[in-house]
Amino acid sequence: MKYVTTPIYYPNGDPHIGHAYTTILGDVLKRVANMNGEDTFYTTGVDEHGQKIQAAIEKSGLSEQEFLDNKADVFKSLFDSLDIQYDFFVRTTADKHIKVVQEFLQKIYESGYIVKKKYSGLYCEGCEMFKRESDLDEHGNCPDHQKKPIVVEEENYFFRLEPFRDWLVEHIKNNPEWIQPKYFATEILNMLKEPLEDLCISRPVSRVKMGVPLPFDDKYVTYIWFDALVNYVSSIYEKPNKDQLWANSVHLMGKDIIKPHCIYWPIMLKAMGLEPVHKVLVHGFLTGESGIKMSKSIGNVVDPVKVINTVGTDALRMFMSTNVSDRDIAVSERNITEFYQLMANNIGNLHMRSCKLLEKYKSNVVPDAKLTDEDSQLLTQISNSLSSALKSVTNFAEISALSNALLQACSEVNSYVSRKEPWSMAKRLPETQDELDSCLYTLMDSLRIIAIALYPIAPNTAKKILDTLQIDQADITVVNVVPAKLQAGVQIKEASILFPKLAVDSTEK
Ligand code: MSP
Repeated sequence: MKYVTTPIYYPNGDPHIGHAYTTILGDVLKRVANMNGEDTFYTTGVDEHGQKIQAAIEKSGLSEQEFLDNKADVFKSLFDSLDIQYDFFVRTTADKHIKVVQEFLQKIYESGYIVKKKYSGLYCEGCEMFKRESDLDEHGNCPDHQKKPIVVEEENYFFRLEPFRDWLVEHIKNNPEWIQPKYFATEILNMLKEPLEDLCISRPVSRVKMGVPLPFDDKYVTYIWFDALVNYVSSIYEKPNKDQLWANSVHLMGKDIIKPHCIYWPIMLKAMGLEPVHKVLVHGFLTGESGIKMSKSIGNVVDPVKVINTVGTDALRMFMSTNVSDRDIAVSERNITEFYQLMANNIGNLHMRSCKLLEKYKSNVVPDAKLTDEDSQLLTQISNSLSSALKSVTNFAEISALSNALLQACSEVNSYVSRKEPWSMAKRLPETQDELDSCLYTLMDSLRIIAIALYPIAPNTAKKILDTLQIDQADITVVNVVPAKLQAGVQIKEASILFPKLAVDSTEK
């Protein structure tokens, strides 16, 4: 069984399109694994401690519980409308999670890697962490929050990372596939060229109330990252197959959080005597149009709920899957709508024209055809390309390759129909009967193959096509992505429009 995780998101605001991005990709990985016969345990959730949440709760006027429950519901409802099949929704305020965090703290404390000392440093309230001068921009601001850090002097607990640096460097070098794409492994290796400073893992309760109390000093709560990272272990803690899950674990994330995941987290695990996560998959950022960071004040924030209401879930899922990259990608409501239109012209058009042709010339019954060499080759070619794309999806680049292979397959079959002109064959019946039957069968079987391969990315669209073809959901497996499996004699249903015309032209800004 495979274990797939997303970062747990800060619920101080509403979910962002970036949260939707990683969570969709995780869902695609889960569905592909299932189609390849591999069970998956998929987690996502919220990171409910820390100063930022505390401030948001105070501002809301709600009780802590009410605020957090509401936000967890907002995130869950977005993930439900995105058809995310998560198996467990993490909440870091859950007792079971807190217990495991405290176990980590206690054990690492007992092993001598946590020390108490007075520290004076520059603290960024946005990052909730101490910064070095070299982390700041030329104006002395935190580059991520554009704010000057405040000087904080206090006694705190520190986790000694340096004793683990050589081990971590070796681990990365010996496991070139550990962090994907490799570019980010190089970035981590660069960070590991300098000695690692001790990591401040406590915050005095006087300053931060919302956190997990240190089991060895109740005047402190732990640093939010120490708490959050442990979710990956606490979520499977009670599972009988947790060791097997951990050996097949994959953490997904944006490039902003590789340092905690690829430096702090493996070291925390090592200090506990545990193995690092099996794989880390990293994607770039979504930016507003022209590559500008999304921000409410610029007005270029893309609201995932609004996008779903306009173009539906599948167009957004396919947009993300096609474009996923280690580089930043620009998104706007306009380019997602354009993508919807591309899907309508490509998949939508193929579905509708194929079904209409079958209706017109065969009264919706799949013919018992002897395939021509050309038709047989086309089916073999698209099934080979899609089944090999499906079999190799283990990282983000391969999700994009699958998505592109799907668009390519639809284009090929669309140009095949235009080239073969079944309507002309129909004018020369009966001598063209075999050719027409072969062509119509090829169209319907292509649709079947494409719909199965589309399922992990655009499950609703895939199910609609398969439903039209009277194909059972149990047949959605990679094994069925082979040519000529559609049963002759089946009466297909009337095709519905997969991508209806949009009510308002949202391409106009
Ligand atoms: N709570 C921490 C993560 C703890 S995991 C142990 C956190 N939360 S977050 O709400 O800021 O979410 C960060 C993650 O959300 C990113 O790593 C990425 O997966 C996703 N994204 C949020 N905004 C994004 C973009 N604009 N673009 C792409 N993904 C981004 O960090």
